[in-house]
Amino acid sequence: MQLFRMLSVFSLAAVGLACGHSHAHDEHEVVARDSIKIAPGPSDTQIQFAPLPSTADPVTINTTLGYFVGDLGGGVHWVTDGSYSNMFLVSTHGVIVVDAPPTIGHKLLYAIGNTTHLPVTHLVYSHFHADHIGGASLFNASHPTIIAHAETFSLLASPRDPLRPLPHVTFEDKYTVRVGNQTLELSYHGPNHTPGNLFMYAPAQRIALLIDVVFPGWAPFAELGIASFVPGLTAAHDVLLSFDFDVFVAGHVGRLGTKQDVLLQKKYIEDLHDSCASAINGGFNVTTAIGPTVAANKGNVWAEFKAYLRVAAQTCADNTTSRWLGVLGAADVFAFENAYRMVDSLRVEYDVLGPFSVS
Ligand SMILES: *[C@@H]1O[C@H](CO)[C@@H](O)[C@H](O)[C@H]1NC(C)=O
Ligand SMILES: *[C@@H]1O[C@H](CO)[C@@H](O)[C@H](O)[C@H]1NC(C)=O
Ligand SMILES: *[C@@H]1O[C@H](CO)[C@@H](O)[C@H](O)[C@H]1NC(C)=O
Ligand SMILES: *[C@@H]1O[C@H](CO)[C@@H](O)[C@H](O)[C@H]1NC(C)=O
Ligand SMILES: *[C@@H]1O[C@H](CO)[C@@H](O)[C@H](O)[C@H]1NC(C)=O
Ligand SMILES: *[C@@H]1O[C@H](CO)[C@@H](O)[C@H](O)[C@H]1NC(C)=O
Ligand SMILES: [Zn+2]
Repeated sequence: MQLFRMLSVFSLAAVGLACGHSHAHDEHEVVARDSIKIAPGPSDTQIQFAPLPSTADPVTINTTLGYFVGDLGGGVHWVTDGSYSNMFLVSTHGVIVVDAPPTIGHKLLYAIGNTTHLPVTHLVYSHFHADHIGGASLFNASHPTIIAHAETFSLLASPRDPLRPLPHVTFEDKYTVRVGNQTLELSYHGPNHTPGNLFMYAPAQRIALLIDVVFPGWAPFAELGIASFVPGLTAAHDVLLSFDFDVFVAGHVGRLGTKQDVLLQKKYIEDLHDSCASAINGGFNVTTAIGPTVAANKGNVWAEFKAYLRVAAQTCADNTTSRWLGVLGAADVFAFENAYRMVDSLRVEYDVLGPFSVS
């Protein structure tokens, strides 16, 4: 309530200023670039974004097959359809599959079937999100042992989804999957993209896996990859870098990642953090920003907040994007959405409240 009261102080000033004027046009200028928080306008479907840099290039995918299988050595393979990725490890006793993205779907069975005749005996969930494990029930026939973090079990327990069977084995901190000659180390370092999102490491092959945190060669997907806890997401970059790996499987984009990709995205997140903090701490004139909305929506504090958050995010995005165009793919595409998530995070997860902080 304190927060709303303080906002009203700005509101009253803004109402005075806006009195007798129509600010519909100014408002529209801000709204036009806001692509997720309002219904899309006709022009949104034909926006021409900046060309992708070569850093974003995917592996070449056979269009007839619709998938690519890459041999990472020592029995480890990664699979991608150009948008999603996962991995599987062929052991002397059976196959360990990590994740089952539904877009890859049956093609994952073909990828494995064309690599080995051994059955899938283990299925590991990176996290509970359906777009990464919604193909899990395709393995029902071979009754794999499903392994996941305890948080993932809880999140899958209700509501139940037959396409995402509940894990049989859960753990809190660390768990080592040993099947035949393969070893896959699972560890949990707190919530980041989601609660329960795991780090995985295959020591013999020096391969790391972390899903939906780093997007190699690309700016993050919308809202920082739909991150549930941005401080944890930020810290996850350093945790990932602490593993001794050569390549990592990211869950998205049609290529693998390296430590360089992790370092680069870490810089992007830090830059966004600083720019959004700067926007919140006096980076724009709040009275001017929310005045027209306040005038048109008296007493509607949600409308005031929408105007405030939108301008904060757009100010942050405008400050950040130019530095990343040509460095990370599609830095312009979700610039607003990523800045919006960072502004929210700074406010409620980092306590950077700008004009709404304790006086
Ligand atoms: C793509 O895959 C199909 C089916 O396996 C195969 O016949 C074709 O030769 C492949 N194309 C290329 C360019 O490798
Ligand atoms: C484990 O066995 C599989 C199947 O024989 C083989 O492809 C793979 O290279 C082996 N990996 C290790 C780490 O020994
Ligand atoms: C091998 O891949 C092809 C093409 O994707 C598929 O039709 C076939 O069923 C696969 N074989 C096995 C044994 O999975
Ligand atoms: C897969 O198996 C689980 C039990 O392990 C079951 O609850 C689920 O309904 C099955 N899903 C499908 C789609 O067959
Ligand atoms: C952009 O953000 C940086 C912090 O990253 C800040 O120092 C700078 O003043 C901001 N520039 C503008 C134009 O807001
Ligand atoms: C914000 O803009 C208003 C005019 O819209 C102006 O009166 C006020 O001084 C500005 N505030 C700051 C801090 O610049
Ligand atoms: Zn996810």
